[in-house]
Amino acid sequence: MKSVKAFAPATVANVCCGFDILGFAVDAPGDEVKVTLRNDSEIKIKEIIGDEGKLPYEVEKNTASVAIISFLKKIESKQGVDIELVKNLPLGSGMGSSAASGVAALIAINHLMGNPLTRNQLVPHAMEAERIACGAAHADNVAPSLLGGFVLVRDYDPLDVIKIEAVENLYCTLVHPHLELKTEDSRKVLRHSVTLKDAITQSGNIAGLMIGLLKPDYHLISRSLKDVIAEPMRSVFIPGFNNLRQIAMEAGALGFGISGSGPTVFALSQSETKAQQIAEAIQVEFLRHKLNTDPYVSKVNQEGAKVLTVD
Ligand code: HSE
Repeated sequence: MKSVKAFAPATVANVCCGFDILGFAVDAPGDEVKVTLRNDSEIKIKEIIGDEGKLPYEVEKNTASVAIISFLKKIESKQGVDIELVKNLPLGSGMGSSAASGVAALIAINHLMGNPLTRNQLVPHAMEAERIACGAAHADNVAPSLLGGFVLVRDYDPLDVIKIEAVENLYCTLVHPHLELKTEDSRKVLRHSVTLKDAITQSGNIAGLMIGLLKPDYHLISRSLKDVIAEPMRSVFIPGFNNLRQIAMEAGALGFGISGSGPTVFALSQSETKAQQIAEAIQVEFLRHKLNTDPYVSKVNQEGAKVLTVD
């Protein structure tokens, strides 16, 4: 075995009420990373496709190589590798783009080295990639991209990541308006303290969402998909946000919100047909604001990142 190619899916972080502590993966789209063993100890990015020349080739700045360097250090290996990255996720979109590259790179290198770490043990190395990408080592994109399904980050210190064996039948609509919003900038607008009233509301909703997913209880999921902490600050970046919510709900969504740090918006629903209808309705509304969009409709993914090819 000399090279492994892996795929890591896009993710929706926060899921309204779970700021920095909840996310889920979708089946597609996602990024692909091929890692090839070298005969020396150099880490090199050989090729990046699909990023319009925007991503760095410097290994200490690229999320794929940063994750690999952190992993190799952990297993005390001096192995060198070549990295090839196919970027299918738009940058600065709120769809977990930086996470997907780091996670695909980790799945590939872990497989190449004989899987010394479990998927849960890979999470901190993917978080290092997030730190490089946006200045904050949040885990709510990388953990669901690695593990699949809905993943709760119960605590960061020490890290306690829990996959929720949730409902099978949930569909996700993602609509990405052609705006770029850096996570770093989208985090700067957040307040650093919340009122007791907002903390109570948010806690009620995150608890409700957990129970709704586990039961499953779709009405409870729907009632719980609310965010009083990040959304009020961030929705100003997304033209027509309040109308978009109403339109999505009228088209049959269980809930609607900002995907991660935005500007992509997401909705959850119970059928693929509904998810498509919601996508179309949201696209029409964005067009009224002169914004072109890319829609993505997918089932909530259960498996997470995967190995594609081994040579
Ligand atoms: N929880 C992070 C944030 C996700 O909202 O800033 C970034 O995609």
